[in-house]
Amino acid sequence: LGRFTLAIDGPAGAGKSTIAKCLAQNLRCTYIDTGAMYRTVGLFCIQNNIDYTNEDAVNSVLSQIGIDIIYEDNAQKIYLNGVDVSTAIRTQEVAAAASKVATYKEVREALVDMQRKLAATKSVVMDGRDIGTVVLPQATLKIFLTASAEERANRRLLEYEAKGMEVAYDVLLKEIQERDDQDANREVSPLKKADDGIEIDTTSLSIEEIIERIAHLLQERL
Ligand code: C5P
Repeated sequence: LGRFTLAIDGPAGAGKSTIAKCLAQNLRCTYIDTGAMYRTVGLFCIQNNIDYTNEDAVNSVLSQIGIDIIYEDNAQKIYLNGVDVSTAIRTQEVAAAASKVATYKEVREALVDMQRKLAATKSVVMDGRDIGTVVLPQATLKIFLTASAEERANRRLLEYEAKGMEVAYDVLLKEIQERDDQDANREVSPLKKADDGIEIDTTSLSIEEIIERIAHLLQERL
Protein backbone atom coordinates (compact mmCIF):
# COMPACT_ATOMS: atom_id res chain seq x y z
CA LEU A 1 0.00 0.00 0.00
CA GLY A 2 1.16 3.51 -0.74
CA ARG A 3 0.55 6.30 1.75
CA PHE A 4 -3.13 7.06 2.32
CA THR A 5 -5.28 9.18 4.57
CA LEU A 6 -8.75 8.06 5.61
CA ALA A 7 -11.08 10.71 7.05
CA ILE A 8 -14.01 9.57 9.20
CA ASP A 9 -16.49 12.20 10.32
CA GLY A 10 -19.91 12.13 11.88
CA PRO A 11 -21.95 13.02 14.96
CA ALA A 12 -21.30 11.78 18.50
CA GLY A 13 -21.88 8.06 18.98
CA ALA A 14 -22.04 7.12 15.29
CA GLY A 15 -19.28 4.55 15.87
CA LYS A 16 -16.40 6.61 14.49
CA SER A 17 -13.76 5.72 17.04
CA THR A 18 -14.56 2.00 17.22
CA ILE A 19 -14.50 1.73 13.45
CA ALA A 20 -11.48 4.00 12.93
CA LYS A 21 -9.47 2.04 15.53
CA CYS A 22 -10.25 -1.32 13.92
CA LEU A 23 -9.50 -0.02 10.44
CA ALA A 24 -6.16 1.44 11.54
CA GLN A 25 -5.24 -1.88 13.10
CA ASN A 26 -6.24 -3.88 10.01
CA LEU A 27 -4.47 -1.46 7.69
CA ARG A 28 -1.42 -1.21 9.97
CA CYS A 29 -1.48 2.56 10.16
CA THR A 30 -1.93 5.23 12.81
CA TYR A 31 -5.30 6.12 14.33
CA ILE A 32 -5.73 9.76 15.27
CA ASP A 33 -8.67 10.70 17.52
CA THR A 34 -9.10 14.46 17.08
CA GLY A 35 -12.05 14.70 19.48
CA ALA A 36 -9.61 13.83 22.28
CA MET A 37 -7.75 17.07 21.53
CA TYR A 38 -10.88 19.24 21.88
CA ARG A 39 -11.73 17.31 25.03
CA THR A 40 -8.27 18.05 26.44
CA VAL A 41 -8.76 21.78 25.90
CA GLY A 42 -12.14 21.45 27.65
CA LEU A 43 -10.57 19.53 30.53
CA PHE A 44 -7.85 22.14 30.98
CA CYS A 45 -10.51 24.84 31.34
CA ILE A 46 -12.51 22.82 33.87
CA GLN A 47 -9.40 21.98 35.92
CA ASN A 48 -8.20 25.58 35.96
CA ASN A 49 -11.53 27.31 36.51
CA ILE A 50 -11.46 28.97 33.13
CA ASP A 51 -14.98 29.87 32.00
CA TYR A 52 -15.06 27.82 28.81
CA THR A 53 -18.17 29.65 27.59
CA ASN A 54 -16.00 32.79 27.34
CA GLU A 55 -14.08 32.73 24.06
CA ASP A 56 -11.55 35.41 25.04
CA ALA A 57 -10.81 33.64 28.32
CA VAL A 58 -10.11 30.39 26.47
CA ASN A 59 -8.02 32.07 23.79
CA SER A 60 -5.87 33.72 26.43
CA VAL A 61 -4.87 30.36 27.99
CA LEU A 62 -4.36 28.45 24.73
CA SER A 63 -0.59 28.89 24.87
CA GLN A 64 -0.57 27.19 28.31
CA ILE A 65 -2.17 24.02 26.98
CA GLY A 66 0.49 21.54 25.92
CA ILE A 67 -1.01 18.53 24.14
CA ASP A 68 1.00 15.45 23.23
CA ILE A 69 -0.24 12.40 21.38
CA ILE A 70 1.71 9.30 22.27
CA TYR A 71 1.23 5.71 21.11
CA GLU A 72 1.51 2.96 23.70
CA ASP A 73 0.82 -0.61 22.52
CA ASN A 74 -0.83 0.84 19.42
CA ALA A 75 -3.34 2.82 21.48
CA GLN A 76 -3.47 6.60 21.35
CA LYS A 77 -2.72 8.24 24.69
CA ILE A 78 -3.21 11.94 25.13
CA TYR A 79 -1.16 14.03 27.53
CA LEU A 80 -2.01 17.45 28.92
CA ASN A 81 1.11 19.28 30.07
CA GLY A 82 2.85 15.98 30.72
CA VAL A 83 -0.06 14.22 32.42
CA ASP A 84 -1.91 11.30 30.81
CA VAL A 85 -5.54 12.46 30.57
CA SER A 86 -6.77 9.70 28.23
CA THR A 87 -9.32 8.50 30.79
CA ALA A 88 -10.10 11.85 32.44
CA ILE A 89 -11.43 13.30 29.17
CA ARG A 90 -14.12 10.59 28.82
CA THR A 91 -16.87 12.27 30.84
CA GLN A 92 -20.03 14.06 29.72
CA GLU A 93 -18.91 17.23 31.46
CA VAL A 94 -15.71 17.27 29.41
CA ALA A 95 -17.63 16.43 26.22
CA ALA A 96 -19.89 19.44 26.73
CA ALA A 97 -16.89 21.71 27.36
CA ALA A 98 -15.14 20.27 24.27
CA SER A 99 -18.14 20.97 22.08
CA LYS A 100 -18.19 24.58 23.33
CA VAL A 101 -14.48 25.33 22.88
CA ALA A 102 -14.66 23.63 19.46
CA THR A 103 -16.79 26.57 18.28
CA TYR A 104 -13.83 28.96 18.76
CA LYS A 105 -11.74 29.81 15.69
CA GLU A 106 -8.38 30.08 17.48
CA VAL A 107 -8.86 26.77 19.24
CA ARG A 108 -9.66 25.08 15.94
CA GLU A 109 -6.70 26.66 14.15
CA ALA A 110 -4.26 25.44 16.78
CA LEU A 111 -5.65 21.89 16.81
CA VAL A 112 -6.08 21.58 13.04
CA ASP A 113 -2.43 22.57 12.66
CA MET A 114 -1.40 19.75 15.04
CA GLN A 115 -3.65 17.28 13.25
CA ARG A 116 -2.20 18.07 9.83
CA LYS A 117 1.33 17.66 11.16
CA LEU A 118 0.44 14.27 12.64
CA ALA A 119 -0.86 13.10 9.26
CA ALA A 120 1.82 14.70 7.09
CA THR A 121 4.23 11.82 6.70
CA LYS A 122 2.35 8.60 7.37
CA SER A 123 -0.80 6.71 6.56
CA VAL A 124 -3.55 7.56 9.02
CA VAL A 125 -7.16 6.97 9.87
CA MET A 126 -8.36 10.20 11.47
CA ASP A 127 -11.78 10.72 13.01
CA GLY A 128 -13.60 13.90 14.00
CA ARG A 129 -16.15 16.36 12.66
CA ASP A 130 -14.21 18.36 10.03
CA ILE A 131 -11.53 15.96 8.84
CA GLY A 132 -12.82 15.54 5.28
CA THR A 133 -13.97 19.15 4.96
CA VAL A 134 -11.12 21.09 6.61
CA VAL A 135 -8.23 19.10 8.10
CA LEU A 136 -7.51 16.71 5.22
CA PRO A 137 -9.42 17.97 2.18
CA GLN A 138 -7.18 15.80 -0.02
CA ALA A 139 -7.89 12.62 1.95
CA THR A 140 -7.79 9.39 -0.04
CA LEU A 141 -11.28 8.54 1.22
CA LYS A 142 -13.82 10.51 3.24
CA ILE A 143 -16.51 8.70 5.16
CA PHE A 144 -19.45 10.30 6.95
CA LEU A 145 -20.97 7.97 9.54
CA THR A 146 -24.48 8.55 10.80
CA ALA A 147 -27.10 6.77 12.90
CA SER A 148 -30.32 7.89 14.52
CA ALA A 149 -29.88 9.89 17.74
CA GLU A 150 -31.73 7.14 19.66
CA GLU A 151 -29.40 4.45 18.34
CA ARG A 152 -26.35 6.59 19.18
CA ALA A 153 -27.61 7.26 22.72
CA ASN A 154 -28.12 3.51 23.13
CA ARG A 155 -24.57 2.76 22.02
CA ARG A 156 -23.17 5.36 24.42
CA LEU A 157 -25.27 3.84 27.21
CA LEU A 158 -23.68 0.44 26.56
CA GLU A 159 -20.20 2.01 26.50
CA TYR A 160 -20.73 3.72 29.84
CA GLU A 161 -22.25 0.56 31.33
CA ALA A 162 -19.27 -1.48 30.17
CA LYS A 163 -17.04 0.94 32.08
CA GLY A 164 -19.22 0.55 35.16
CA MET A 165 -20.55 4.11 34.89
CA GLU A 166 -24.22 4.73 35.56
CA VAL A 167 -25.94 7.17 33.20
CA ALA A 168 -29.61 7.53 32.29
CA TYR A 169 -30.65 7.00 28.65
CA ASP A 170 -32.69 10.23 28.56
CA VAL A 171 -29.74 12.24 29.82
CA LEU A 172 -27.48 10.74 27.16
CA LEU A 173 -30.00 11.33 24.39
CA LYS A 174 -30.37 14.96 25.40
CA GLU A 175 -26.60 15.43 25.66
CA ILE A 176 -26.09 13.91 22.20
CA GLN A 177 -28.81 16.08 20.65
CA GLU A 178 -27.40 19.24 22.21
CA ARG A 179 -23.88 18.43 21.08
CA ASP A 180 -25.04 17.56 17.52
CA ASP A 181 -26.94 20.80 17.38
CA GLN A 182 -23.94 22.84 18.50
CA ASP A 183 -21.51 20.95 16.23
CA ALA A 184 -23.70 21.19 13.12
CA ASN A 185 -24.71 24.82 13.54
CA ARG A 186 -21.46 26.51 14.54
CA GLU A 187 -19.95 29.06 12.19
CA VAL A 188 -16.41 27.65 12.05
CA SER A 189 -16.04 24.20 10.44
CA PRO A 190 -19.50 22.86 11.20
CA LEU A 191 -20.12 19.13 11.21
CA LYS A 192 -21.12 18.16 7.68
CA LYS A 193 -20.39 15.62 5.00
CA ALA A 194 -17.70 16.63 2.53
CA ASP A 195 -19.05 17.10 -1.01
CA ASP A 196 -17.03 14.09 -2.13
CA GLY A 197 -17.64 12.16 1.11
CA ILE A 198 -19.52 8.88 1.31
CA GLU A 199 -22.29 8.64 3.86
CA ILE A 200 -22.89 5.37 5.66
CA ASP A 201 -25.93 5.03 7.90
CA THR A 202 -24.76 2.62 10.58
CA THR A 203 -28.12 2.21 12.35
CA SER A 204 -28.73 -1.32 11.09
CA LEU A 205 -25.20 -2.40 10.16
CA SER A 206 -22.76 -4.39 12.27
CA ILE A 207 -19.28 -3.03 13.01
CA GLU A 208 -17.82 -5.77 10.78
CA GLU A 209 -20.05 -4.81 7.87
CA ILE A 210 -19.12 -1.15 8.14
CA ILE A 211 -15.40 -1.92 8.37
CA GLU A 212 -15.59 -4.21 5.37
CA ARG A 213 -17.43 -1.60 3.34
CA ILE A 214 -14.92 1.16 4.15
CA ALA A 215 -11.88 -1.08 3.58
CA HIS A 216 -13.32 -2.01 0.18
CA LEU A 217 -13.90 1.65 -0.76
CA LEU A 218 -10.34 2.47 0.25
CA GLN A 219 -8.87 -0.40 -1.78
CA GLU A 220 -10.65 0.95 -4.84
CA ARG A 221 -8.85 4.25 -4.43
CA LEU A 222 -5.33 2.95 -3.89
O1 C5P B 1 -15.53 12.88 19.05
P1 C5P B 1 -15.70 13.43 20.44
O2 C5P B 1 -17.05 13.16 21.00
O3 C5P B 1 -14.61 12.99 21.36
O4 C5P B 1 -15.56 15.00 20.28
C1 C5P B 1 -15.82 15.90 21.33
C2 C5P B 1 -16.24 17.26 20.74
O5 C5P B 1 -15.12 17.84 20.07
C3 C5P B 1 -17.34 17.19 19.68
O6 C5P B 1 -18.64 17.29 20.22
C4 C5P B 1 -17.03 18.36 18.77
O7 C5P B 1 -17.64 19.53 19.24
C5 C5P B 1 -15.54 18.55 18.92
N1 C5P B 1 -14.79 18.11 17.75
C6 C5P B 1 -14.69 18.96 16.67
N2 C5P B 1 -13.92 18.63 15.61
C7 C5P B 1 -13.27 17.46 15.55
C8 C5P B 1 -13.38 16.54 16.63
C9 C5P B 1 -14.19 16.89 17.72
O8 C5P B 1 -15.28 20.03 16.68
N3 C5P B 1 -12.51 17.18 14.50
